[in-house]
Amino acid sequence: MTKIYEELRSARWMAPDNLRAFGHRSRARQMGHGPEDWEGKPVIAVINTWSEAQPCHMHFRDRAEFVKRGILQAGGFPMELPALSLSESFVKPSTMLYRNMLAMEVEELLRSHPVDGAVLMGGCDKTTPALIMGAISMNLPFIFMPAGPMLRGNYAGKTLGSGTDSWKYWDERRAGNLSQQEWQGVEGGIARSYGHCMTMGTASTMTAIADSMGLTFPGASSIPAPDAGHQRMAASCGRRAVEMVWEDLTPDQIITPTAINNAATVAMATGCSTNAIIHLVAMAQRAGVDFNLKDLDAIGRGTPVIANVRPSGEEYLMEDFFYAGGLLALMERLGDKLDHSAITVTGRPIGEAIEGAVVYNDDVIRPLDNPVYLEGSLAVLHGNLAPSGAVIKPAACDQKLLKHTGPALIANSYAELKTIVEDIDYPITPDTVLVLRNAGPQGGPGMPEWGMLPMPKALLKNGYRDMVRLSDARMSGTSYGACVLHVAPESFIGGPLALLKNGDLVTLDVEKRLLQMEVSDEEIARRRAEWTSPEPRYERGFGYMYSRHIEQADKGCDFDFLKTDFGKPISEPEI
Ligand code: FES
Ligand code: MG
Repeated sequence: MTKIYEELRSARWMAPDNLRAFGHRSRARQMGHGPEDWEGKPVIAVINTWSEAQPCHMHFRDRAEFVKRGILQAGGFPMELPALSLSESFVKPSTMLYRNMLAMEVEELLRSHPVDGAVLMGGCDKTTPALIMGAISMNLPFIFMPAGPMLRGNYAGKTLGSGTDSWKYWDERRAGNLSQQEWQGVEGGIARSYGHCMTMGTASTMTAIADSMGLTFPGASSIPAPDAGHQRMAASCGRRAVEMVWEDLTPDQIITPTAINNAATVAMATGCSTNAIIHLVAMAQRAGVDFNLKDLDAIGRGTPVIANVRPSGEEYLMEDFFYAGGLLALMERLGDKLDHSAITVTGRPIGEAIEGAVVYNDDVIRPLDNPVYLEGSLAVLHGNLAPSGAVIKPAACDQKLLKHTGPALIANSYAELKTIVEDIDYPITPDTVLVLRNAGPQGGPGMPEWGMLPMPKALLKNGYRDMVRLSDARMSGTSYGACVLHVAPESFIGGPLALLKNGDLVTLDVEKRLLQMEVSDEEIARRRAEWTSPEPRYERGFGYMYSRHIEQADKGCDFDFLKTDFGKPISEPEI
């Protein structure tokens, strides 16, 4: 133990013999607590992203009780604080617009309340990075409690995967191959328990990243939400958070360059969501670790995808991954690609947890010499179309398209895109590069997950299921296809994508990491001189602040002023 009670933040609120502390104590008594609840005890915030719009976190009301039980068992005082739930399913135009809002909320919740440490409850896509980003900037001891994946989907004896199968069955429906009744059967079977998406989408990727970075109990991210082990894990989080406060185990001791590299390596080996890149860069920056797209690409080149989980894998889902040994087993397989000395929230090296982990199914967690995909799941592209970078997920593409040149066909908005893709007779060739502009951080706004541009009906009817698609948007981690994403700088602020014209040839060469328009520099300069910036998206409110401070995708889309090292450090609140 390196801390004593008098040194705790909460003691400043609760202990002194003065009028302020009297107020805090009398109000704690108003809630039915007494001195035996708080005296000498750390206060642990339970940051809960439960809401009735958040199906992935439906179990959090109940799980919070387990977390609190653990806190009480270890001699702490739980204080549940609800936070924005950022439901991927319901929040529009995009949860990405609000990731930083939640990050800000978490930081300020922790700062303004009498708390010494925290359990962060999240899992649905953006909640994981947002909670962690905010807590990093506050630098109080915390442990992340991952929501856990939902059970496998099921319809008519077939397994269904979140997102991935929605798109697949929708394409079949659009192609006229699926009846109304079958479509409703898919609707009722694709999400049949609480928990986050059970493909290796953004949610599973981000919780795996949190896990391999040392921010959860080792292996916790793989436990399915409805498994009783998940409840036990929740209680352990509560107990451990109390100990972490006494040990003063702050996040800056855990989130080191080594931990970030481990997390990036694991992400690549899982066949991670493209979104992971943005969040990983943002989290690293908050922790003061210099980590960029080039680092990520280099790690990707040396790390095969060994998790055979959809959408990169063909067959399996997170439930299978758990039964096959889960994340620790995958980490065991990665051998010396990981640095086992990195410490976790347990205060112990992650290697201790990895040692002895066993793979129970070699088809789900593949050996390194029989990977799902030889290189890591993501590749970072550069070229005159994306001077600051763009991203593609080669493992999820028709491999023929990884080297491709074709004419651009451009939509300037999602509405425009719809008129192209819904027209069954639209004159379009399969070598066309379909482009969507104005879908980036500023243009979307909020960089919506539009990047898996729908396949045009005119190609679907002829049996085509993939083509090269290009945008400054993101795509859902459960998506697939030859989609080039996150083009930076984005078109809305005048990135080169804004200067592309219909019919210009676009070259994609994943091996060379190249994304290029075959247009001369002189012509590009001429077009740039003619370009005028569009009307701002927001004139008031959160969006107004957002558009003035949001950074581009390659920088993690954080607000400039939220970076931990921005300006002077913030002092503790006056009590
Ligand atoms: Fe919540 Fe996919 S909708 S994780
Ligand atoms: Mg998603």
